[in-house]
Amino acid sequence: MAPRVDHLYFFLLGIASFFSLLIAGLIVYYAVRFRRRSADSVGARIQGGMLLEITWTVVPLVIAMVIFVWGANVFFAMSTPPVETLNVYVVGKQWMWKFQHLDGQREINELHVPVGRAVKLIMTSEDVIHDVFVPAFRVKADVVPGRYTNLWFQPTRPGRYHLFCAEYCGTRHSGMTGEVIVMEPDAYEAWLSGGAVEGSLASAGEKLFSDLACNTCHRPDTQGRGPDLQDLFGKTQALQDGASVVADEAYIRESILNPRAKIVAGFQPIMPTFQGQVSEEGVLELVEYVKSLNKNRASAPAASSEGAPRPADAVPASGRGTRN
Ligand code: CUA
Repeated sequence: MAPRVDHLYFFLLGIASFFSLLIAGLIVYYAVRFRRRSADSVGARIQGGMLLEITWTVVPLVIAMVIFVWGANVFFAMSTPPVETLNVYVVGKQWMWKFQHLDGQREINELHVPVGRAVKLIMTSEDVIHDVFVPAFRVKADVVPGRYTNLWFQPTRPGRYHLFCAEYCGTRHSGMTGEVIVMEPDAYEAWLSGGAVEGSLASAGEKLFSDLACNTCHRPDTQGRGPDLQDLFGKTQALQDGASVVADEAYIRESILNPRAKIVAGFQPIMPTFQGQVSEEGVLELVEYVKSLNKNRASAPAASSEGAPRPADAVPASGRGTRN
C-alpha cells in the first residue's frame, strides 16, 4: 500500500507546489508590471471576463475530481482486507501493546509476522483510545475501548519497523511504541513453534468457557437456557424484539459483557454480565472459541490463518469512521 499512498501524496505535493509558485510569481510580476507610475493615475475599469471565470472554475473542478477519485480508490483498498488474512488480536492499554496470535503466542510491544502474507489486526483497548500507526506501511487506525477496529497490511520486505501510538493517551503516550518484525516464512514458522505455547487462542477460550461455567447454559441440546453457540459465528440471529443481528466479534463481546442488550428470540434475559470478570484478552479468547465452533469453515486453509465469513470482514465498517 505504501507506494500507492506515496504516489498520491507526491501528486498532491506537486499540485500544491505548482500553484503556490504560480500565484506567488504572478503577484510579484503584476506588482512590478502594473505599479502606479504617477500620483494621479487611475486604473482602467474591468467588466469581468466570461472565459476567465469558466477557466478558473473548470480547472480546479477537474483537479479536485482527480484527487477525489484517486484518494477514494486508495482509501477503499486500505479499508478492505483480502478474504484470506493472517489474523492477530491487538489489545492496547496504558501504555503497551499486547498481541495475541491465533496459535496462542502472546507478545508485548513486538509483533512478528511473515513476509508476503496479508495480516489483519483486530484491535480493541482496555482503557482509553489509542491508535496503531506503522509509518513504513502507511497504515494507521484508532484502537477504541468497547469496540473492534481492523487494520490490514501486507509486508513486502523482511525487517524491523517502528510501531507508534498515534493518539494522545496519557503521560507515557510517547513511550507507547513497539516494533513490527517481518520475517521470512521459514523463520516465522520457526518463531511460531518456538515460544512457550499454552495452546491456541481457541483452546484457551474453551477453557475459560468452562471455567466461567458458560457451558452449563450454552449447550448443544435443547435443555440449554442459553442459545447454542454451534455454527453461530457469522450467522444472522433473530432477536426477541423482532430485530436481527449478525453474530460478529462485536456482538459476541457485547453478549458477554452486556447480555441484556440483545436477547435472542425464544430465550429469557437471565444471563448475568461478565463485566469485570473477563479481561479484553479473555473476551478475545472466547470470541475465537465461538469462531472455532463453526464446522463449515471451508475457507480456512490452516490453523494459523482464517478465512472469516463475510459478516466478520464487515466488522470494521463501524470502525472505518474512526480512522484519522
Ligand atoms: Cu496509547 Cu498514545
